[in-house]
Amino acid sequence: MGYDIPEPYVWDESFKVFYDKLDEEHKGLFKGLFDVAGDKASAGKLAHLVGAVDAHFKNEESMMQAKSYADFPTHKQAHEAFLSKIKGLKAPVDDATVHFAKDWLVTHIKGTDFKYKGKL
Ligand SMILES: [Fe+2]
Ligand SMILES: [Fe+2]
Repeated sequence: MGYDIPEPYVWDESFKVFYDKLDEEHKGLFKGLFDVAGDKASAGKLAHLVGAVDAHFKNEESMMQAKSYADFPTHKQAHEAFLSKIKGLKAPVDDATVHFAKDWLVTHIKGTDFKYKGKL
């Protein structure tokens, strides 16, 4: 159980969902989290990450809605739970929080986003 967390924390092709826009956004989320992990005291890097996550979730959700994707409600709930958690963070973030976020993103893409492959 569980997925390997890349080290260094960089997107690779094993995360591909095969929608260019979403893959590019996922790359950006890895980068945003990589930057936060490397500068845990930075409020700016944290804010950038939160903004990128928010924008990505909105785009992904609108693509799911456009196709009346059946798992949309539970997928959206997963997004909302993570977003509210990271919106509540304040710099400096701690190691446990960084690890949680890294693991969540990997697990969410491979365990949840992958279910929409070929359906959007
Ligand atoms: Fe998602
Ligand atoms: Fe996603």
